[in-house]
This record gives sequence, structure tokens and C-alpha cells, in this order.
Amino acid sequence: MTLWQGRLGDGMAGVVAELTTSVQVDRELAADDLTGSRAHVLGLAKAGILTAAEARELLTALERVGSELAEGTFVFEAGDEDVHTAVERRVTQLAGEVGAKLHTGRSRNDQVATDLRLWTRRALLEVAGRVVELQAVLLHRAEEAGDAYLPGYTHLQRAQPVLLAHHLLAHGWALARDVDRLVATVERLDVSPLGAGALAGSSLPLEPAYVAGELGFAGAFENSLDAVSDRDFVAEAVFDLALLGVHLSRMGEELVLWSTDEFGFCTLDDAFATGSSMLPQKKNPDVAELARGKAGRLIGHVAGLLATLKGLPLAYNRDLQEDKEPLFDSVRQVNLVLAAMSGVYATLAWHHDRMQAAADGPAASAVDLAEHLVETGMPFRRAHELVGSLVRESVERRVTLVELVQAHPDLGERAVALLAPGVAVTRRTSPGGAGPGPVSLQMERFSRRLGVDRSRIAAHLGGEAAVTG
Ligand code: ARG
Repeated sequence: MTLWQGRLGDGMAGVVAELTTSVQVDRELAADDLTGSRAHVLGLAKAGILTAAEARELLTALERVGSELAEGTFVFEAGDEDVHTAVERRVTQLAGEVGAKLHTGRSRNDQVATDLRLWTRRALLEVAGRVVELQAVLLHRAEEAGDAYLPGYTHLQRAQPVLLAHHLLAHGWALARDVDRLVATVERLDVSPLGAGALAGSSLPLEPAYVAGELGFAGAFENSLDAVSDRDFVAEAVFDLALLGVHLSRMGEELVLWSTDEFGFCTLDDAFATGSSMLPQKKNPDVAELARGKAGRLIGHVAGLLATLKGLPLAYNRDLQEDKEPLFDSVRQVNLVLAAMSGVYATLAWHHDRMQAAADGPAASAVDLAEHLVETGMPFRRAHELVGSLVRESVERRVTLVELVQAHPDLGERAVALLAPGVAVTRRTSPGGAGPGPVSLQMERFSRRLGVDRSRIAAHLGGEAAVTG
């Protein structure tokens, strides 16, 4: 039985049912569909379309459906095209006659848009919370790292030593922008589409602002056509998640490199590594690799969804049903990667000796030599050339840089002191720089930022639907 048998009869071809059915995917929205329906019932009662007794019957039936879903006893039937149809069918089975009034003044078009906004709001806040957990792990490892330093790279060539804490927090700040984007997306999607109907509103005295308030949305739609066709929030969400995924991918790539024998900067904990089915000696960084691998899929979801949206005339088109899989999958994958990467970072062992040996290479202080010459009045371009030629001479004649610096009339003993292991990193004193002074300030600021972001997320969670059961 279809919802439109009055118009089309009951002869839908099997393949059409197969193509159009979405219940396998959108059953994920069941709880939000109930939340939306509760608000709608309250709205219908307020508008005098339902009597108080009818509203009560419907609310009771909705509550029953909620328990069935929670207990796993809810049965999706063969004819249930989507979750909205399934819930309405069950409410009607439970409440009888009055069930037929539930969909008054409502279309699945405003219904699905409402459900999806409720779902996305909660999902993005959950993701943001997990990002903050990962940031807290990075901060903890940064605090623990103390004075440990490693080479900072450009072009993957050793460039200048940086504190390990500084390196870890570089990822932390990228994640802070992710949290910011997720929260901003939540703030922008905070608009209720309920009451837009199929596309044009209703002849009944509905109050979209009232149901918006009941759902905990900041306000109701301004334009019914826009309300049912807008999926900007889904596009933004999958983009936010894809960029977060790209950050996780870069972190993953780094761990893949760092855990090789060639780098040897860290060893993964056994609980967060995998073995090989053939090679007994192997310990593989599969979590880090999947963090890298999932990014491809997340980027694909952004491209796919934008392609779905780009040609759609106003207002609702069935193409929009394709919005859920990329969104749900992006959230699921990112949540998994976040949890696994938090575990990886919390448990891995650093090898400070290897990092420091790599960072103490002879040329690590080259720029310090040049800046030392600048302090004596030499223009930087000349100083750069002078030090560059010493490095070259050292490589070509196989003489240590220390010897050459010692012997050079413009350099000598004070300059040699700059080349001692561990000195270079301590000279990165400018704000936001990689040395101990600025990094300790940075850690304080980062820690405060985590507190602020935790409160922002909690405040939005607190603003959730008043009618949620
Ligand atoms: N399952 C549909 C979706 O996800 C619900 C809306 C259906 N509306 C319609 N007019 N056929 O988009």
C-alpha cells in the first residue's frame, strides 16, 4: 500500500519500489522523526486541528513507537518506503483512526528536512566532542614531551629543530579550526523547516515558529521553497568532515613515516597496530593508514553531494534522498578514525634519542649562524651566502662545520657555541615559535581554548529539542 493510492492506484512496478525505497538508510533518522512528529502534534493541537484528547493519543502512540525502536522490537514492513512512512504506519496501527490525522499540514518534504537537521546537529556536536578528546590527548603528550625536540621539515628535508610539543600542537590547532567549523555549521543549520509543507506552506493556521521552539531550533524558515530544498547544511557538514578527515590523514601519514625503521621516531602500542598474515616480524600502522585512506572517501562524498545538488530546480526533488548516505557515512567514518587516532597517540612511545640525533645534524643551526652575523651588523643576504658556502665546503671537503666556523674570522668561538646539540631550538623565542618560551605560552592558550570549545559544545547540546523523549 502506498501513501498516494488515491491518485495512482497500487500497481507500482517492483523495480520502482526497489529504486525509491530508502528505509535501509534513513531508519537512522527514526528517533528524530519521532521528535519532529511530537512537535508537529503539539502544533496541530495548538492550532485547534487536533483536540487535546486526540493529541494525547497520538503522543502516546509516538512514545510506544519510540520504545519499540529503542528495544529493537519495531518491525519495518516490506511496504515501508522510508522511515517516515514506517513511523506513520505504526502510529496508525497503534492509535487507530486518529493516526490518519498525524500528517495534517505536513509533507515528507518538510518532515525529512526537519529530521535531518535534528540528526546533523547532534551528530556534528558529537564529532566535535571527539575532536576535543583527541586534542586533549595531543596536549597531554605535548606537556609530557618537555624539552624533547626533533627536526622540523620543509620539503621533507630537515630544516630547523622544533620542540616535539610544538609539532604536536600544530595538529592541535588545525583540529581547533575543525571544531570551530563544526560548531559554526551547527549554528547555521539551526533553522526549522517544519510547516513548509510540500513546498508552499499551508491553508491551516500552523505556527512554524512555535514548533521550531519546541524542537529547540533558534527559529523557523523564512521561505517555504527554500526550507524544503535547502541542503546547504549537509554539504557544509560533509565538507567540515572531509577537511577534518584531511587533517587526520596528514597526521596518519606522519605516523606512518615516523614509525618506520628509517625514521624511528616512535613505536606504536601493540593494541593500536596490526600484524601481517605472512611476515612474522611485521607490525603495521594500519590505523594511521586508514586515517589517510578514509580521507579519499570523505572527499568523494563532498564532490558527490555537490554534484547531486547542482542541477536541482526548486523545490523538493527526489534526488535529495541521496543526501543521507554520504552524510551518515562521513560521520561514521570520522568518528571511528577519531577514536582510533586518540588511542594511537595516547599509547605510542616516542624515541627522543632518535628525534634529537636527527635534529642535531650539523646544518641544523645554519640560520642561527647567519642571524649571529646579522647581530654583528652584516646584511642578512651576505650572512646567508657566507654560511651557505661554509656548509658547502664542509660537505665537499668532508670537514666538520664546527672546524670551519671556528677558523672563520667573522665567526669563531661564540658562533661555535651555537652549533652545540640542543641549542638551536632554544633560540626560537619569537611569539608562536618552536622554542620552550613561546611553546609554554602556547600550551596554556591551547588548554584554555579546549575549555572554551568544550563549553560551546555543551551549550549547544543543552539547547536541544525540548520535546525529545
Ligand atoms: N525519503 C525521502 C527523502 O529522503 C522523503 C521525502 C519524500 N518526498 C517525496 N515527495 N517523495 O528525501
